[in-house]
Amino acid sequence: MQYPPAMAATPAGHPFGIDFGGSGIKGAPVDLASGEFAAERTRIETPAGGRPEDVAGVVARLVADGAPGNGPVGITVPGVVVRGVVRSAANIDKSWIGTDAVELFTEQLDRPVVVVNDADAAGLAEARYGAAKDQAGLVVLTTLGTGIGTALVHEGVLVPNSELGHLEINGKDAETQAANSVREKKDLSWKEWAKLLSRYYHTLERLLSPDLFVVGGGVSKHGAKFLPLLEIDTPIVPATLRNTAGIVGAAVLAAESTR
Ligand code: BGC
Repeated sequence: MQYPPAMAATPAGHPFGIDFGGSGIKGAPVDLASGEFAAERTRIETPAGGRPEDVAGVVARLVADGAPGNGPVGITVPGVVVRGVVRSAANIDKSWIGTDAVELFTEQLDRPVVVVNDADAAGLAEARYGAAKDQAGLVVLTTLGTGIGTALVHEGVLVPNSELGHLEINGKDAETQAANSVREKKDLSWKEWAKLLSRYYHTLERLLSPDLFVVGGGVSKHGAKFLPLLEIDTPIVPATLRNTAGIVGAAVLAAESTR
């Protein structure tokens, strides 16, 4: 997907990024020169059920409070997003499927809106400012959380909606076997989890021959405990932007994209 430079940033000079997650919806203006927040992040609990209209209401509050003016807003969604329409909902309310999220948010915000898959936003941010900055070739970012999100970035260009968390391994959806939520639920040791992850990353390695894996999601801060245990050949490093990556990537796309 090409993201041609088109929109100007907010009058204050900073596009606004919003990360829609299972427990919280977070937003901040982003300084594109540094990839850092230009002001403090605001967080509002995700409304129970996380239905599209309710999430749009929270997004409108975050923007009204944190982004005066009419600059562009980028919003992540934990599902496939094709030309603004959400096409999957593995871990969110199924009514997102078929929702034109760009239309929904634009009605609420009345300003330019870009909607992007959460892992894609994080992958782009890591490639621009974080663990995969200046990395040649193919970077595969994986977010290990409730599910597994993936982003493919080749020579700095995002190939969206890869959804490799749903690869079928031994007849089952990979994220139901190896996500961080599975480790927590089954109370797996780091070693036990590393075995499942090795199988997952080895499959990605065989299919894609990447130059680098970047591991995001909250658990990446414990990378030292499980990454050295993985039996794979490709270099694998923790994400460096941590929980800012989704917001930063969404803001980058908002500043650079048209729908
Ligand atoms: C969804 C992806 C999402 C990932 C992380 C998966 O279940 O299918 O679209 O990126 O979870 O939230």
